[in-house]
Amino acid sequence: MFSNFLSWWPWMLLLLSLHGSVARQNRFEWEQVIRLPGEPDDADVDEIGGTRWAVLVAGSSGYGNYRHQADVCHAYQVLIKGGVKEENIVVFMYDDIANSEMNPRPGVIINHPQGPNVYVGVPKDYTGDDVTAENLYAVILGDKSKVKGGSGKVINSKAEDRIFIYYSDHGGPGLLGMPNRPYVYAMDFIDVLKKKHASKGYKKMVIYIEACESGSMFEGVMPKDLDIYVTTASNAQESSWGTYCPGVEPAPPPEYITCLGDLYSVAWMEDSETHNLKRETVKQQYKSVKERTSNFNNYALGSHVMQYGDTNITDEKLYLYQGFDPATVNLPPNNGRLEAKMEVVNQRDAEILFMWKMYERLDHQTEKKKEILEKIAETVKHRKHLDGSVDLIGVLLFGPTKGPSILQSVREPGLPLVDDWQCLKSRVRVFETHCGSLTQYGMKHMRAFANICNSGISEDSMEEACMTACGGYNVGLLHPSKRGYSA
Ligand SMILES: *[C@@H]1O[C@H](CO)[C@@H](O)[C@H](O)[C@H]1NC(C)=O
Repeated sequence: MFSNFLSWWPWMLLLLSLHGSVARQNRFEWEQVIRLPGEPDDADVDEIGGTRWAVLVAGSSGYGNYRHQADVCHAYQVLIKGGVKEENIVVFMYDDIANSEMNPRPGVIINHPQGPNVYVGVPKDYTGDDVTAENLYAVILGDKSKVKGGSGKVINSKAEDRIFIYYSDHGGPGLLGMPNRPYVYAMDFIDVLKKKHASKGYKKMVIYIEACESGSMFEGVMPKDLDIYVTTASNAQESSWGTYCPGVEPAPPPEYITCLGDLYSVAWMEDSETHNLKRETVKQQYKSVKERTSNFNNYALGSHVMQYGDTNITDEKLYLYQGFDPATVNLPPNNGRLEAKMEVVNQRDAEILFMWKMYERLDHQTEKKKEILEKIAETVKHRKHLDGSVDLIGVLLFGPTKGPSILQSVREPGLPLVDDWQCLKSRVRVFETHCGSLTQYGMKHMRAFANICNSGISEDSMEEACMTACGGYNVGLLHPSKRGYSA
């Protein structure tokens, strides 16, 4: 009897487990029956069969650009809450905000007027001088030997892994800013993605980019067969927008004189935080972010979110990239829909607005006030100098009637900004040599340099035009020998 029981025991177990799986299967079918059509299926999605990796990049520095680093810190918190591991997230940020003397809450960074401190626990992988385009490329490629400085953390990913890249900063046609020169040029960035793909370094990748003219980084140059899906805050020819700015609604707490976030960036992060990412697809997020970033179809105060690359990836669930926060499990699909418009500030005006707010704050400090006024005047003067020189170069190269229209002409969608990216870099260097650094404002003139290349203007003709337009202008501290060429 006893031995009989022993020999039966494993069979009983097997029967019990079979019964269990039948029951589960029944429940699965039952759920499928009662599930409404179109409702996402989140059964069996706990195993992603690979590692999630992320690269987060704030491309600016300075308290006036508070918002970009705030965006990136916030993104870090979203991923950590989702269970993405710190060892798999690489953060690039200049790290001069939290402890800036202008920060009203020392050691704290917020990305929403009532938001929590998003600076907590953010790893200092690449900060200060180590926030460079070269390090970014080496990190994405997982090439530790090419990394200079920093923590040495790289995206050491395998063929079954997924990668999420998020970038926030100023940009211009064909490039993204970096706090250290040179900037990130579209073709260099896409070459890095191609190399990563060729090395079978991931299964799928999703990239979110906030910058002015960010669509131009991918328009006509982003292949569809790299298993990479990209969305950008703006199309190839428009600004992106700062939000939670002083003097506009919703405003930051009164002690802040700088914008806390950027419209597209806070749109995706606030969306992620208010949804169950095991149910929400990449496509659903794209749609709600597009709506909010357009400021509900008010494109005069918003931008066109664009998508590039392999759009098949948009059917995937977001948790595959951003992780899943168990606290969101019961949130409904239409949760947290913001119907209110957000007032915004053009990325390029945010710098001047910040300096002006600083000026207003200094009630009786006459010396300091004078200093800031001088700084504003200098910034405005350099902006005018850049605008005027580019205009004049156009006139010199193409004549007074055709000049402006050639420089500003926008190619049809689907065509890249420029055919020869090396030409673009070389014309930028020539310009900066004679006319001074482009600065974050001057990135907007990249289209003019691209069109100069597209028109076949030689380097010698460009040099003559720059010497004529900028001869005798003292660029002072804005000479590229001080902080490097942007190309
Ligand atoms: C996207 O999916 C369609 C339909 O399955 C397929 O024909 C196409 O090749 C896919 N595109 C890419 C870039 O994989």
